[in-house]
Amino acid sequence: MDLLQVEVLFNREQLHQKVVEMGQKISEDYRGRELLVVGILKGAFVFMADLIREIDVPMELDFMDVSSYGLSTSSSGEVRIVKDLEYSIKDRDVLIVEDIIDTGLTLKYIVENLKTRNPRSVKIACLLDKPTRRKTEIFPDYVGFSIPDKFVVGYGLDYAEQYRHYPAVCILKPAVYEKSR
Ligand code: IMP
Ligand code: MG
Repeated sequence: MDLLQVEVLFNREQLHQKVVEMGQKISEDYRGRELLVVGILKGAFVFMADLIREIDVPMELDFMDVSSYGLSTSSSGEVRIVKDLEYSIKDRDVLIVEDIIDTGLTLKYIVENLKTRNPRSVKIACLLDKPTRRKTEIFPDYVGFSIPDKFVVGYGLDYAEQYRHYPAVCILKPAVYEKSR
């Protein structure tokens, strides 16, 4: 990790401990049922890979990729499905796994879209939450950490597709994006 560019917010151990806790809670809540875990690409893939290994109920996995219309860095709420689910979710217990909720507009769209497909239930597990940025009502069922309004990277999260492989969640130093403007 280039510590001139980033500052560690949550290290490997802190992330691992939180993911174990989340997995245990999810396992208790879904005991006796079977999950369909839906990862939102690409950001959620590292978190999802760790989380599912801490969940002790039967599950299948699927993935969805969405993109916001427009060029702005913060989402517009107009969302396009770039890759849809492979399987039907009718009568399934769906757990959406997301990296971070910012305005909430992306996840709001996804939840509403999935609910039209008649699942038995839809819940949300997200690693990070920036509640002060919310532009719509959305309440994740499982949250790892609430964080302040800072741009974070690593553990799957990117800035311009960089930093996803960093093992810690890090705050990106503003000098990095100021430089690229
Ligand atoms: P929302 O629709 O504003 O909630 O957008 C959420 C999406 O924006 C997430 O899935 C991320 O892809 C991206 N995002 C929001 N905040 C950050 C951040 O701090 N770092 C990296 N990606 C972010
Ligand atoms: Mg994302």
